[in-house]
Amino acid sequence: MISKEGKDMKPFVVNFSDIGIDFKGNHIVRKYNDIKHIFKTTDPTLERENPVIYEVFEGPIQEKEGELMFLITILYPGTVNGEFFMTKGHYHTVENTAEVYLGLRGKGLILCQTKKGEFEAVEIGPNKVVYIPPFWAHRTVNISDEPLIFFAVYPAHAGHDYETVEKEGFKKRIFRGDNGILFVEQ
Ligand SMILES: [Fe+2]
Repeated sequence: MISKEGKDMKPFVVNFSDIGIDFKGNHIVRKYNDIKHIFKTTDPTLERENPVIYEVFEGPIQEKEGELMFLITILYPGTVNGEFFMTKGHYHTVENTAEVYLGLRGKGLILCQTKKGEFEAVEIGPNKVVYIPPFWAHRTVNISDEPLIFFAVYPAHAGHDYETVEKEGFKKRIFRGDNGILFVEQ
C-alpha cells in the first residue's frame, strides 16, 4: 500500500468503524498519569487506575511539506474533580498552518487562543466542521458522557508545540456545572 519511509505516495483509502480504526500510522495513547499536570487538580483514584484519557490514530503520512496528515481522536468522557477530560493542546511549530476538524460522535468544545491573548471556544460534534486558523492553539474538551470522536486534517509538516501551552495554559478551563458547563478563568 503506502510507505511512511519515503516512497512516493499513491492514492489510498482507509476505513474506520465503531470497533476499530486501522489507519496504518502512529497510534498515540495518553493516559491520566501522562497528562495529569494539565488539570487544575489531581485525583488519587485516577492516579491509581490511570485510565486512557484520549488516543489518536494517525494516517500513514510522512511529516513533510506538501502532504496532509489526517487522524482520528477518541477523547473519553470523565472529569478530574469536575474539570472535563481534555487534550494537551498545542500550537503548531510551523505557526502559519491551519487545521480542520470534523465531529463524528459525542459533543465537545475546541478551545482556541492566540499568543496575542484572543480566546474562542467552539462546539464540535456530529455534522460540525471546525476551522482552526493559522496561529491559533487548540485543545479539545469532552463535555458529554460518551466518547468524543473527531477527524482532523492539517499540513503534515506543521509539527506540535506543546511546551508553550504547558507554560502558559489556556485562558479558561471547562468544568461540569449544576446547569451545564462552567468556564473558569485559570
Ligand atoms: Fe493541531
